[in-house]
Amino acid sequence: MTLHFQDLQLDKPLTDALRAAGYESPTPVQLQAIPAALNGADLMASAQTGSGKTAAFLLPILQKLLKRSDKPGKGPRALVLTPTRELAQQVEKNAQIYGKNMPWLRSVSLVGGTSFGQQIRMLSKPVDLIVATPGRLMDHMRQGRVDFSRLEVLVLDEADRMLDMGFIEDIETIVAATPASRQTLLFSATWDGVVGKLAQKLTREPQKIDIERVEAQGKIDEQLLYCDDMRHKNRLLDHILRDANIDQCVIFTSTKVMSEQLADELYEKGFAANCLHGDMPQGWRNRTLMDLRKGRIKILVATDVAARGIDVPTITHVINYDLPKQAEDYVHRIGRTGRAGRHGLAITFAEVNEYMKVHKIERYLKRQLPEMAIEGMEPTRKRNKNAAPKGKGKPWGGKGGKGGFGDKHKRSSAPHGKRPGGDKPRSGGFKSGGGKPKMKK
Ligand SMILES: Nc1ncnc2c1ncn2[C@@H]1O[C@H](COP(=O)(O)OP(=O)(O)OP(=O)(O)O)[C@@H](O)[C@H]1O
Ligand SMILES: [Mg+2]
Repeated sequence: MTLHFQDLQLDKPLTDALRAAGYESPTPVQLQAIPAALNGADLMASAQTGSGKTAAFLLPILQKLLKRSDKPGKGPRALVLTPTRELAQQVEKNAQIYGKNMPWLRSVSLVGGTSFGQQIRMLSKPVDLIVATPGRLMDHMRQGRVDFSRLEVLVLDEADRMLDMGFIEDIETIVAATPASRQTLLFSATWDGVVGKLAQKLTREPQKIDIERVEAQGKIDEQLLYCDDMRHKNRLLDHILRDANIDQCVIFTSTKVMSEQLADELYEKGFAANCLHGDMPQGWRNRTLMDLRKGRIKILVATDVAARGIDVPTITHVINYDLPKQAEDYVHRIGRTGRAGRHGLAITFAEVNEYMKVHKIERYLKRQLPEMAIEGMEPTRKRNKNAAPKGKGKPWGGKGGKGGFGDKHKRSSAPHGKRPGGDKPRSGGFKSGGGKPKMKK
């Protein structure tokens, strides 16, 4: 039996808005989190990327907001904290979509890099929901602009990431300013280490929700491509980007400089490419993301600032141009595709001497990444024999994928289908790759 949003005790203004947004039935995390949160429980929830966690915490909040507060004051009744500005803005927009039949709803995103003026004006009137990054919220709190005495619900989205980014003290200060009676909903990819301890401190008898990956919630095919060096990597990238199946693509680099450089190179080659990183003025960051959402950008070259939470359902491909520094970032990066039941492809480049980094990711994933090679563009440098995993060749403790370490002959063929006549290696590096330009920005 398929459950509907009506079955979850959500009132008509919300179920109508969800229907208008094209949501037919709740996703697994929504099915579990919404009734629990409506019952007043604290939550510690994890679920795969793109599985609808935002609505899982926003809908119970909005349902509460449908009833008047009996407390006086103009402070927020709900607060959502996120690690990045883009994510805060996106979550606040989602609240407006789900709350579209609540015309009196006042929500505001408080993020850095934007002027204080408008935020101060918003805070001078009663506000129902604040979605903020910790730094900017703290700025407003120091000036005494936020009164949390009415606060009913506190949400930390991507809690582990916020702690990685060093927001622990800010979060503790913010939490200390909220009433102890509040409900706390925590969403995190992991509960290991500091984030688990913080969760213990912030919640009371939390209900744990951990949704296993289900294919109906989006399938991401993965491919690992070894390359000899940067030149080879750029040739592979050039080849891949000329695939007609790419609708939109995010390419992750490890540095801001590299994201700019690569975006410039791609743009010069005729691709509608742009970069996104944390040193860009916020206005540019916003415009770039809007261009991506509107389809004006086909390729976004980004640092990990775009790895968490960003939801652009038309992204068909993710390319890890550089390997992520932390194994868990791999999961979040590739999760920018294959969202809400869609299919996506994630391609990861690794230089032959980076096999240990790949290994670390595979250990974290507890599975092997399917290794591929593009016909005629295979790496020529050999990996060190010691690259083979120690033990019995299955260090991930699960079923192995195709190919992989110590099994170089089992590589499958071209990842993007067989091209007639195969694909001859092109000469030159990325810059000299040439080729006919695609869409112009
Ligand atoms: N019940 C639903 N039916 C259809 N689409 C949905 C439903 N719930 C959410 N979506 C859509 O699914 C996409 C992913 O949602 P969301 O951004 O909340 O995922 P997430 O779990 O927070 O992912 P991440 O871990 O990457 O932050 C969005 O485009 C959203 O509009
Ligand atoms: Mg999210």
